[in-house]
Amino acid sequence: MAVSPLHCPSPPAWLEHVLAHFDLFLLDHAAAEKKAAGMALSMLSHYPDKDQLVTAMSELAAEEMMHFREVVRLIQERKLRLTADEKDPYVNEIRSWMRQGSEAYLLDRLLTGAVIEARGAERFGLIAKELEAGVVRRFYQSLARSEARHYELFLNLAFAYFPAQSVDARWQELLAAESRCMQSLPIRAALH
Ligand SMILES: [Fe+2]
Ligand SMILES: [Fe+2]
Repeated sequence: MAVSPLHCPSPPAWLEHVLAHFDLFLLDHAAAEKKAAGMALSMLSHYPDKDQLVTAMSELAAEEMMHFREVVRLIQERKLRLTADEKDPYVNEIRSWMRQGSEAYLLDRLLTGAVIEARGAERFGLIAKELEAGVVRRFYQSLARSEARHYELFLNLAFAYFPAQSVDARWQELLAAESRCMQSLPIRAALH
């Protein structure tokens, strides 16, 4: 799996809280997968002229919807039901950092996508480590690998469309900001 680029790890209190309220966590997790698919679709609609991006985002949307389907399966097995989407303060905060201007906006969309995926990969990996051996643990292990691939996918797209120097500089800024944001938000039984 790709080495995590994140500047700081999630607090142990987050993991404890999620494991203690795993049913609630699953409901939020389903919503997060669905939103990730929606984000990928919105990207490819916004940039129909960028072939590499369109291909990558159509595959990503399909994969995120498969994740959603799997989480829904776990939810239904537990006799739970999906709830209406709630705001995700972490994602909203990170999305608010996107700069205007078509070039800066595309770069920021790709890099914020990458950082959100990297945090997802880290957190699914943490959950997988704590779950007892079985289907659910294997599912979270495979999700950690997928989200790490997605982080690389977004980062590679950034390098495909922009000079390495500008990608590197903005990537470091966003990673630093993400760590501050992640640490400042209250802990919830949620992916973020
Ligand atoms: Fe996913
Ligand atoms: Fe993802």
